[in-house]
Amino acid sequence: MADSLEFNKISAAVLLTGIVILGISFLSEGFVEPIVPAKDSFVVAGAVEEPAKGSSSGDAAPAVIPPVSPLLAKASATEGEGIAKKCATCHTFVKDGPNKVGPNLWGVIGRGRASHPGFDYSDALKKLAGTPWNYEEINKFITNPKAYANGTKMSFAGLAKPEERANVIAYLRTLSDTPQPLPQ
Ligand code: HEC
Repeated sequence: MADSLEFNKISAAVLLTGIVILGISFLSEGFVEPIVPAKDSFVVAGAVEEPAKGSSSGDAAPAVIPPVSPLLAKASATEGEGIAKKCATCHTFVKDGPNKVGPNLWGVIGRGRASHPGFDYSDALKKLAGTPWNYEEINKFITNPKAYANGTKMSFAGLAKPEERANVIAYLRTLSDTPQPLPQ
């Protein structure tokens, strides 16, 4: 008699556990299922959004990237230095600074593309070697690195705002013993 009572208690406990587990999985499904992101959620704030996976073309370039040259006269290198903190995760800016995830950017304006010693560039960037980085090329690159050089190792969504790009480029320009002249 005592045994069968014990058995009943155990069965009841097992049953209850089952019900609770079912209940939890039912509830959590209810909560979790609908939160399927429509697109990738790792886009950096203020940066260009990449198209959702599976969209027809891989070319994410905004239709028209306005030229940066007209904005440079009014751009603020000091503001740009602040924005460039986003780049500093991967780049150093001081003269003879080390390469990190990305190459050192001292003197990058006017420097040959994919030319910094000791840095292992992607094939995508190596293909562009030969001509230097000028204001407009850097502008296009940092608007959307992957659209500019499909296959680049620079995993950065880009800077969407033309003024932010102008400020950053104005800052990059100062990283030189002899800064390039501003565009006329
Ligand atoms: C997540 C890391 C990362 C961030 C953030 C990042 N970069 Fe880069 N950057 C790279 C890598 C890696 C490369 C090399 C790309 C390649 O080889 O395809 C690169 C290359 C470059 C180049 C080309 C340099 C050369 O020698 O040809 C420039 C210019 C550049 N980055 C500017 C910037 C600026 C400006 C920012 C911020 C607005 C930035 N990057 C943010 C990783 C990063």
